[in-house]
Amino acid sequence: MRKINVFDTTLRDGEQSPGVNLNSREKLAIAKQLERLGVDIIEAGFPASSRGDFLAVQEIARTIKNCSVTGLARSVKGDIDAAWEALKDGASPRIHIFIATSDIHLKHKLKMTREEVKEKAVEMVKYAKERFPIVQWSAEDACRTELPFLAEIVEKVIDAGASVINLPDTVGYLTPAEYGNIFKYMKEHVPNIGRVKLSAHCHDDLGMAVANSLSAIENGADQIECAINGIGERAGNAALEEIAVALHVRNDAHQADSSLNLHELKRTSDLVSKLTGMAVPRNKAIVGDNAFAHESGIHQDGFLKEKSTYEIISPELVGVTADALVLGKHSGRHAFKDRLNALGFQFDSEEINKFFTMFKELTEKKKEITDDDLISLILEEKVTDKKIGYEFLSLQVHYGTSQVPTATVSLKNQENEQLIQEAATGAGSVEAVYNTLGRCIDKNIELTDYRIQSNRKGEDALAQVFVRVTVNGKETSGRGIAQDVLEASAKAYLNAVNRQLVLDCNLDGLKRQTAVGS
Ligand code: KIV
Ligand code: ZN
Repeated sequence: MRKINVFDTTLRDGEQSPGVNLNSREKLAIAKQLERLGVDIIEAGFPASSRGDFLAVQEIARTIKNCSVTGLARSVKGDIDAAWEALKDGASPRIHIFIATSDIHLKHKLKMTREEVKEKAVEMVKYAKERFPIVQWSAEDACRTELPFLAEIVEKVIDAGASVINLPDTVGYLTPAEYGNIFKYMKEHVPNIGRVKLSAHCHDDLGMAVANSLSAIENGADQIECAINGIGERAGNAALEEIAVALHVRNDAHQADSSLNLHELKRTSDLVSKLTGMAVPRNKAIVGDNAFAHESGIHQDGFLKEKSTYEIISPELVGVTADALVLGKHSGRHAFKDRLNALGFQFDSEEINKFFTMFKELTEKKKEITDDDLISLILEEKVTDKKIGYEFLSLQVHYGTSQVPTATVSLKNQENEQLIQEAATGAGSVEAVYNTLGRCIDKNIELTDYRIQSNRKGEDALAQVFVRVTVNGKETSGRGIAQDVLEASAKAYLNAVNRQLVLDCNLDGLKRQTAVGS
């Protein structure tokens, strides 16, 4: 049985999903969960793209010990240098360099000839190899590249020092047979191909990403690049959980498997969905709420007689368990800490105290605290400890079917510690809250998306709100969790604004540094 390396790109390509905007604390939480899941490589970001990305990749590389951490770089020295600075302290630093190879990209985007692209690719792989022990090279839009040229450039970059070659279906265009054929072709036409691992990276524009990845494996790929819940640019990347379980359940067909800890799949999917605000469809394979639900009478009857009649994957395999009632009003600090540890979270005593106080406050409103509630609670974020943005203090809303909804909000401006209090009306309660927040905050804010969902079943479930807003023309997103939907709505809005203010502040810092350095 061949072992396939799992290269997770949730934090890079996944983070490129429209509307997704993770801060470094959230990225680290996801990276730690990916480590528990047992992925082989975490692509933590694109260090040269922003100061925030650089710092997040650096922190992840310094923290994660059981898998290799990588970062993306264009074929320019500055990107490679930034990646090295961010990754050099990691356990097994590797770089992921790319350049487009298809004629369509050469002509319209790069404005380079094939010869120039080949030279640049070789030069940059050599440059990266002087720093990184492992260099992965990607041919962007490999799938629309003429195969003889692709084989030629692949041969050259292997000679230059690349040890992993990735052949992405950047635009999700190919059929499984066509994609598999590219790997077969490389095996047959590139003389030094035996010196490298081949990697598959598929996008889901035609719904083929998982099938294409499996076809690549059947035709010789040793690594698959994928994202949790299939998030990613446009229609997304291949869903990690689907490939992993397909390999496990049908390793007889694929003659290959991964070394993932599959029991962690559901928890990883929940975490990514919560933090990104990208809801998982109920009918999504492996991790959707209905993935193990049997509805029709005939199916239920068969299933009760013998599970295998209608079940090919057991829910326990992927970590789907009945909701465990874990803690309540009388639970002590010790039980609380034990439960957090069991969920995979390790905190120092100061953080435990902080979360324990929040937990106790929650038990005043909610009798039964489930694992899901605990995760929501600890991930409820205060965007920053720095003196940036606004702290939510209180909210009051007056609503009646024959009254105009009115909201009163109190905030603290963290920069100057000033209390801000405002009131406003709206056509509905949420609009009244947002009109009031808009008055409190001296920015031009426009709401572009609003979504609400409960964190689990039951009337006392917590409300989770995701919003997308533009702050002075820049788009950002935020989330808020609370027992009450209006409080969750207010927190989500404020969270989005605070994120943008932190980004602006980081950017200003970077500009100042650059100005001082130049
Ligand atoms: O889809 C793609 O081609 C990519 C590359 C940067 C690897 O994400
Ligand atoms: Zn991609």
